Amino acid sequence: MKNLFHVTCWAAGLFTVSVALTLVVDLAGTVTLAASEETGKSLEKAFPHSQKCKRCHLRVFEEWEASAQSRSILSSPFRVSLERYRQTSDDEDGTLCFRCHAPSVLEYPDHANVYIKEIASGDPALDGVGCSQCHLISDVDPNQHPPHPVYQLGRVVFGSYEKPVDNLAHQSAPLALYGQSQYCVACHENLPGYEKLPDILGPWQRAEAQQKGQHCQSCHMPEAFGESANGERNRKISNHSFPGRFGKVRADAVKMDVETEVRGKESEVTVTIQSLVPHNLPLPHPGWSRMELDVTILGKNLRKTYSEQRYYERVFGDQHGKATIFDFEAVSVLRDTVLKPEEKRVETFTVPTPQDAPSMDVLVTMTYSPIHGPEDFLKEVEQRAALGRKDRAFKPVRIVQYKENIPLGTE
Ligand code: HEC
Ligand code: HEC
Ligand code: HEC
Ligand code: HEC
Ligand code: HEC
Repeated sequence: MKNLFHVTCWAAGLFTVSVALTLVVDLAGTVTLAASEETGKSLEKAFPHSQKCKRCHLRVFEEWEASAQSRSILSSPFRVSLERYRQTSDDEDGTLCFRCHAPSVLEYPDHANVYIKEIASGDPALDGVGCSQCHLISDVDPNQHPPHPVYQLGRVVFGSYEKPVDNLAHQSAPLALYGQSQYCVACHENLPGYEKLPDILGPWQRAEAQQKGQHCQSCHMPEAFGESANGERNRKISNHSFPGRFGKVRADAVKMDVETEVRGKESEVTVTIQSLVPHNLPLPHPGWSRMELDVTILGKNLRKTYSEQRYYERVFGDQHGKATIFDFEAVSVLRDTVLKPEEKRVETFTVPTPQDAPSMDVLVTMTYSPIHGPEDFLKEVEQRAALGRKDRAFKPVRIVQYKENIPLGTE
């Protein structure tokens, strides 16, 4: 069956261009649309700005606006590290970083400079990872490592509804891909060109969650019921705030058990951490990303008598074998303590038992660490952040805390 469609342009009303599209419906009911290619289309037209989608998808827009994805070229750490990368590598255009942080550049490589200028301004008018950068992905090539997003820059937005309601702004086509992890890993698996280093996500395919049919979307785009477009009937929708380091999924990151054995002057605190996450935790990109496990003992009058920190991180080595927080300078991994997918890790701490105290408090806390690294780098990040040291990059984010009071008898 073949049909000819006339589709009005993005943001109906603003443009009046019509494009001929050929709609092919095969027997299985899958729909493929072959857009007659427009050549020389500007980047802004090929990748309409998220503001254009807001008019009809207010709920989705507001969720996305609150997400990390909407800030993919905004943060001060990104701006500072992009510049360092451009200065220290052969890739003056920063193409590597744009591959995931502003993937329109994949299709418009000559626009890298426009992005660089926009990003330096701190208030870019272009989207990094906006609606179009995601919904124009028509395929992910699994034969490349990392898997590569394939764009189809026509009038069709791809999604996962079997029967999307017709609208005046765009054609829609369902793709199973949108419900699958394969879609997300195109930007989350590894840095292209760094295949000798272990993947960012770790062996997520083998995780139990994945085997049980849970995809990235199951946890990071939790399902709800509501309007997909303004005024349409309620149906299954997917949250677009992409909870991760921030947001609700954090409560499900790890299960922690703590046992304390008092043995006279010394005590042993055993912390069992069960990661519930089907990928590495934390994800070791950017290179300074790490989690901290802190054990603190409080004695008489809640005075701190002891504290010790352990880190879950991937420490990269540069070409001179020195540790670097910049993964783009890495040629090796010097130490890797990230929690592997669904790993159970047991940590033992030998701590001095507080003397002359009727009891002691054992406090065990797990947090995402604030940004760390060379002083000049941190200074620059601070200077470029609108909120200075108050920027979220400098704040620890708590994941879990355990607290117990242990009686010490009458010693
Ligand atoms: C086009 C590339 C791209 C695709 C596709 C993509 N992401 Fe992302 N994602 C990013 C970038 C870049 C960031 C980091 C934004 C920032 O903080 O600068 C990010 C951030 C995130 C975060 C927030 C992480 C945090 O620290 O809190 C989550 C969660 C996330 N993505 C999940 C997903 C899921 C689930 C999918 C698939 C449905 C997906 N992403 C698809 C590029 C992508
Ligand atoms: C393969 C895709 C990919 C590439 C290539 C990539 N990033 Fe990222 N980047 C991500 C994702 C996904 C996140 C979110 C990670 C998370 O929260 O776990 C992220 C997070 C970040 C962050 C922390 C969030 C923020 O915005 O402050 C910085 C900084 C960053 N990347 C810098 C860079 C730089 C600089 C380059 C180029 C050298 C680069 N990235 C290349 C995917 C990528
Ligand atoms: C990181 C990629 C990504 C970004 C950014 C993104 N989406 Fe989505 N979107 C998806 C995926 C994947 C699905 C399908 C989720 C599923 O089936 O579980 C989806 C589903 C949808 C749906 C149907 C379900 C629903 O919740 O209504 C609409 C409409 C939609 N997106 C619009 C938008 C708009 C508008 C924006 C920008 C404000 C946007 N998306 C940004 C990946 C993305
Ligand atoms: C004129 C209003 C309008 C505008 C503008 C608009 N959309 Fe839609 N869109 C709709 C309607 C209506 C639906 C169908 C909703 C439903 O079926 O419940 C829809 C459905 C979708 C879907 C689901 C398709 C599927 O196959 O699952 C996605 C994804 C989507 N839009 C993305 C976008 C993006 C991205 C933009 C901006 C580039 C955009 N829309 C702009 C009205 C609009
Ligand atoms: C079973 C649920 C689950 C699935 C499936 C899942 N994640 Fe996560 N993810 C989590 C939890 C829980 C966290 C931890 C959040 C925290 O501690 O703040 C997390 C954290 C993240 C973060 C931010 C954390 C960081 O350390 O920077 C990103 C990005 C992310 N996941 C991407 C993905 C991608 C991509 C997939 C698919 C390959 C995926 N996730 C599959 C549960 C899940």
